[in-house]
Formats: sequence, C-alpha cells, structure tokens
Amino acid sequence: MDSLSGPRIVLGVSGGIAAYKAALLLRLFTESGHDVRVVPTEAALEFVGAPTWEALSGHPVHTGVFADVPDVPHVRLGQQADLVVVAPATANTLARAAHGLADDLLTNTLLTARCPIVMAPAMHTEMWAHPSTQHNVGLLRDRGVLVLEPAQGRLTGTDTGPGRLPEPEAIFAACRQVLAGRPRDLAGRHVVVSAGGTREPLDPVRFLGNRSSGRQGLALAEAAAARGARVTLVAANVELPVPAGVDVVRVGTTEELRAGVLAAVAPGDGAAADCIVMAAAPADFRPTELAGAKIKKTHDGSAPTISLVENPDILLELVQSRGVDGPVIVGFAAETGDEHGSVLEHARSKLERKGCDLLVVNDVSGERVFGRDDTEAVILTAGGAVQEVPHGSKDDLAHAVWDAVVRRAEQLQNPSTDR
Ligand code: CTP
Repeated sequence: MDSLSGPRIVLGVSGGIAAYKAALLLRLFTESGHDVRVVPTEAALEFVGAPTWEALSGHPVHTGVFADVPDVPHVRLGQQADLVVVAPATANTLARAAHGLADDLLTNTLLTARCPIVMAPAMHTEMWAHPSTQHNVGLLRDRGVLVLEPAQGRLTGTDTGPGRLPEPEAIFAACRQVLAGRPRDLAGRHVVVSAGGTREPLDPVRFLGNRSSGRQGLALAEAAAARGARVTLVAANVELPVPAGVDVVRVGTTEELRAGVLAAVAPGDGAAADCIVMAAAPADFRPTELAGAKIKKTHDGSAPTISLVENPDILLELVQSRGVDGPVIVGFAAETGDEHGSVLEHARSKLERKGCDLLVVNDVSGERVFGRDDTEAVILTAGGAVQEVPHGSKDDLAHAVWDAVVRRAEQLQNPSTDR
C-alpha cells in the first residue's frame, strides 16, 4: 500500500561503510513526499540492518528475489520506479550493474528499470582509480546512467582521496535535477565553471574582496552535472556546499583563479574543456605590496594610502588564446546603469570588448542579485541575439545558460545557422 503520492524512488544500498549516509538520503526523499522502496544488498545489511530501512521507508525490505514472490518484486520495483538511485555504489555493485548480472533484488531491479538511474560511488581511492572500475563506470555512463563523481576527502581509515560518498544533500539535489527531466545534452562534455569572489590580501588579516557568494556558479555546476557533463568547478572563497559529481579546485586570489582555470581548461592529462563559464567575480586590482605585518593605526589621524596594481583579465586571456575548435566561452556581468549608458548598453560594449560567445547580464542596481536565491538576467550572444530570462531561481538561470551554450556550440559547428 503506497501512502505517498509523490514520485516513486528505489533506493539501492550496497555494502560500504557509507551505507549509514543512505539513511539520511532516505529521510530527505520521504520528507519531501517521495515514496521510497529500499533495496539493500546482503552486504549492505552488514552495515545498516533491515529494521532501519523498514522503519524509515515504511515498507518491507528484501535483498533477494525469493521473498514476496506473488508480487514479483524483482520486476515490479524497477518497472514502477520514477528513479532508481544507488548510494553507496561499491566497486562490486558498479561491476555487476555494468555487466548486466542479476544475482540479487537490486541488480534485477536495475535491469527492469526503464526510468533514470543515478549511482553514487563510494570506495577507496585505489578501487575507484582501478582501470576495471573506470571501464565499468564508462559503460554505465555510455548507457545513460548518471554516475556521480565521488567526493574527495577522508575515507574509512585515516587515508584521504577521491572515493567518499557525496553528502546526502548533494545526492538528493542531483536526483531532483534528474526527476525534473533535464536533457542529457552535455553528456561526454567537459565544462569548467568558476564561482565566488577572489580576495586580495593586504596584510596577514585583511583583504580586498567582493560580495559574490558563488551561488550562481554552484547552480551552473550542478545543472551541468545533471545534464551529463564532467564538471570542474574553480571556486574562489565559496563557503556553500558543493554539488555532487563535481570536481572542485579551491582558490583565493585572482592570480590563483587564473592558474586554476587555465589548468582546468587545458589539463595536461585530461580532456580539454568544451565550455568555460566565468561566473566568478575576480578582483580587478590587488595591493601593490602585501604587508608582512598587520597595518597599524598611527594615532595621529592620518590613514595609509593603498596603492593597487591591475590583475590579469582571465576571460580576455581565454578568448585571446582560444584555438579554432576552442571551447564556448561565457562571461558574466553585474551591471548598473549610469550617466554613460543603460545596463544593456554597458553589457553590449563589454561583450564586444571581451570577445566571448555569450554574456549573462545581471542588473544589480539596488542590491538585486548578490547573495539571493532568485535572479533574472539577459543573455547576449556574440551574433547579436538578446534573450531575456524571466525572474526565477538561480537553477532556472543556470539551465537557460546551458541551453544557450548548447545552441552556440551548434552554431559554431554549423556556421550556416549563425544568427
Ligand atoms: N573577469 C575575468 N578577469 C578579471 C575580471 C573579470 O575573467 N580580472 C570576468 C568575470 O568572471 C566575468 C567577466 O569577466 O565573467 C566580466 O566581469 P566584470 O567584472 O564585469 O568585467 P570587467 O572587465 O572587470 O569590467 P568592469 O570595469 O565593468 O568591472
């Protein structure tokens, strides 16, 4: 008997220490109106027992195909699900799923499911990096399964590295994106997103910075991951949680942001970027000198003069160094109108000056955007198109930007459609 009318979720749990985090993920689903059937593997029950899953989901829990036989659960669960999410997905479960084994209820369910599947791996770094695991992940991704990148950090023992289960909130957010039916049009693409605001140190305790929270960049990264992209997020002083399935490079200053972005766009050992979105707010200037000790008051009423030097313009450099098949490059501009022109006029001349493909323009007169959850923007295209994105969430704007990126990439590949 189903007590809830929301989307039906199958939560597969395989046998890793991170199984306890799946209980928190389950709560996030049930508290937001989803009906969840938990399908643990035998090994998962070694970590968290069936009573926990039954109590939290309100449904009986089985691991094999010979319980509840008249109900044919090994077929029905998969057929009726709106989403199957496996968290944690161990190396063994990834391998069984990749090769179509059907030796327990979870793997049977994966074979009968016709809905989207999300897998959140968790294992030791060596197991994750092993060619066989990577090959299996590739097979699953080629089949349209959203396999999240594991998070970096402390593993079961004292060791650290990639392999941690992403936080339940991040897995939940990725599942919500999938349930929203987003297109998978960035599958196989590598995108780089910069987010946050850089800080230029003045002395050991002070810096010059700005009010960018990084929210829009995080929304862009999350949206791109949901659309299937491999995402590198270069985050400048971002304190908010990072979405699941996103590689993060943390930076502080504009120089560090530049180095982080350039390394991510053309990595020595990885795929060059197909798109770069500069959503970060880099400080344009830095103090000429960094004081080695805290700058003190003089107590004679005089104030120090701080001399500044200009920082590199990363967006401009990306555009100028772009090759023939270079990435689609997107800039952001937070503008206010003034006596020299309107917001749109300033934005048009910025797009021309920077030479990027798209410029996403926020009108920030009267504190309209910084730190808020909602936004509205205009997307200007190098070809001259102007698209108004109506007032909505930063996630809505993020998807509008990726829609525009996909259109722009098509135009660049097929210039006859250029507008
Ligand atoms: N940007 C950059 N490097 C900088 C400054 C800005 O890459 N040193 C990027 C931002 O990430 C953004 C775009 O350029 O995508 C526009 O940023 P903005 O600060 O509006 O541009 P500026 O050239 O600094 O123009 P303004 O004089 O209006 O501040």
